[in-house]
Amino acid sequence: MSIVYLNGKFLPLVEAKISVLDRGFLFGDGVYEVIPVYGKYFFRLIPHLQRLEYSLQAIKLKNPLSLSQWQSTLQQLIRFNNGLDQAVYLQITRGSAPRDHAFPQKIEPTIFAMSNPIKPVPEKWRIEGVTAVLREDIRWKYCHIKSVALLSNVLLRQEAVESGAQEAILLRDGQLTEGAASNIFIVQKGVLVTPVEDSSLLSGITRDLVLELATEAGILCEERIISTKDLLQADEIWLTSSTREILPVTRLDDVQVGSGFPGVIWQQVDKLYQEYKEQVRSGLYGN
Ligand code: PDD
Repeated sequence: MSIVYLNGKFLPLVEAKISVLDRGFLFGDGVYEVIPVYGKYFFRLIPHLQRLEYSLQAIKLKNPLSLSQWQSTLQQLIRFNNGLDQAVYLQITRGSAPRDHAFPQKIEPTIFAMSNPIKPVPEKWRIEGVTAVLREDIRWKYCHIKSVALLSNVLLRQEAVESGAQEAILLRDGQLTEGAASNIFIVQKGVLVTPVEDSSLLSGITRDLVLELATEAGILCEERIISTKDLLQADEIWLTSSTREILPVTRLDDVQVGSGFPGVIWQQVDKLYQEYKEQVRSGLYGN
């Protein structure tokens, strides 16, 4: 049976209960992280915990645990699924109190974490690429916060699924922001381009690593505005996230992207990414 962490205790999932007055449930008043684990080792744990701190500060919620308390709690949690590749999900909400929009006084946050086996990226997606749909970015203006209020992301991803696609790529005022649950890159004449980090997108941990690996490999990288025209004329389009790694997009709506197959630059950077993952698994970066 799956063991989860709730407010200081490890307990079976079926016994983990929270109040219906929890502000995460009533208002989506909370933040979260998703952290991959390969073998026994976390994938970039510190950057994930730093982003958590940043999200908490942005919603004016004090981090209930120190960095070392998070590290030891999450390490204990992943031992219940010993050795498996896992995705740790953690969430902090402002806690439970009678319903009122303004923050209640003297309230304890709800802290929850669970770990599930990570679903491997389907081999077909890596060989053939995936389809994406292009949609208006209907989300709020604080997309740099990893908020649990994800209804617009949910609706956008569902639209993609109902069109037979794997992701929705989002445009705000004619400029690309990101995917419904991923960051975006395009390749234009050999240059790897991704939108500048601002409040219109999440600062992805995978995005950072891709930029690092590509730069080390001598690939020219640019962080700048990407227009609809740039997207439609791109030689390659990629989506990045902790759970889906680097996905090559080979169809956008009904139009073929580039050659219609994962591009050469994707192959080069994905190889480096897979090598990095194996180094994580071997314990090279520790926890
Ligand atoms: N989401 N942008 C959005 C809106 C996301 O939801 C995610 C990831 C990313 C990529 O971030 P990272 O590389 O740090 O995973 C970008 C996670 C996986 C989720 O919600 O399940």
